[in-house]
Amino acid sequence: MNMFDLSGKTAVVTGGNSGIGFAIATGLASHGAQVVIVNRRIPQGKLAAERLVAQGFSADSEQADVSVEASVDQLVKAVLKKHGQIDILVNSAAAIVRKPAVDVTAEEFDLVMSNNVRGTFLCCRNVGRHMIERRKGKVINLSSNVSQVVQENRSAYCVSKAAVSHLTRALAAEWAQYGVNVNAIGPGPTITEFNTTYFEEHPEDRKKLTGLIPMGRMGAPADCAGAAIFLASDASDFVTGQTLLVDGGSTLL
Ligand SMILES: NC(=O)c1ccc[n+]([C@@H]2O[C@H](COP(=O)([O-])OP(=O)(O)OC[C@H]3O[C@@H](n4cnc5c(N)ncnc54)[C@H](OP(=O)(O)O)[C@@H]3O)[C@@H](O)[C@H]2O)c1
Repeated sequence: MNMFDLSGKTAVVTGGNSGIGFAIATGLASHGAQVVIVNRRIPQGKLAAERLVAQGFSADSEQADVSVEASVDQLVKAVLKKHGQIDILVNSAAAIVRKPAVDVTAEEFDLVMSNNVRGTFLCCRNVGRHMIERRKGKVINLSSNVSQVVQENRSAYCVSKAAVSHLTRALAAEWAQYGVNVNAIGPGPTITEFNTTYFEEHPEDRKKLTGLIPMGRMGAPADCAGAAIFLASDASDFVTGQTLLVDGGSTLL
């Protein structure tokens, strides 16, 4: 018996076009899942799905903005029409604003909360309705190490990720009775498109953050793939409400 086999399962991965989301999509697809990549820019989504298909995996893409309710409604309907079921939902789409709290505008605060908290909630809610009906499903939300500790100049982002971890607990408690597991992954700083330009422009911040990681390096997107495969598979059937930190120990000290 292979507890990590995902054959016959459909996985929707928001933000699956890039970085950690793409690494997770690759990991799930390599274990047999049919993956649906979701993001706003159509060419990037198509390209990501094509990269998976080129490796012999099953994948396609759908355009959606997770912060817009009508877009999420339409997305879930389209995936169910095409694939009939959603077994795994990964919420990886997110936004960040890096500046001192005193300079963050109300619009910037709302942007971060609307992508990270509202978007995660809407996708969980809509896919959750379907999973509850089927009495099974695995939800994986991308939180962060900053759900537990804080990094300076990222106030709205830190709050949003603490909210994602707490939303994960709240939904896990509500949906356990229906056989739906809700967990989160909390990556530490990981080099992706999310921060490449920022770290190039702020090498001192990169050095400082790396210094806070006991393992002495920043994460790679693939570091999160194993955690996602575990949380998507039968191997995690009795695990719910958890934020699994994949952070090189950065929350230990
Ligand atoms: N990288 C890190 O250091 C780090 C650390 C801890 C946690 N995380 C978390 O891990 C997750 C993935 O991060 P990443 O670094 O892999 O990010 P990334 O490379 O920037 O990829 C995220 C993708 O999500 C899509 N997206 C953003 N907002 C969206 C929206 N409203 N609707 C639909 N798609 C949207 C974007 O594509 P489009 O522009 O085409 O929509 C983007 O390419 C995020 O939740 C992030 O907060 C990252």
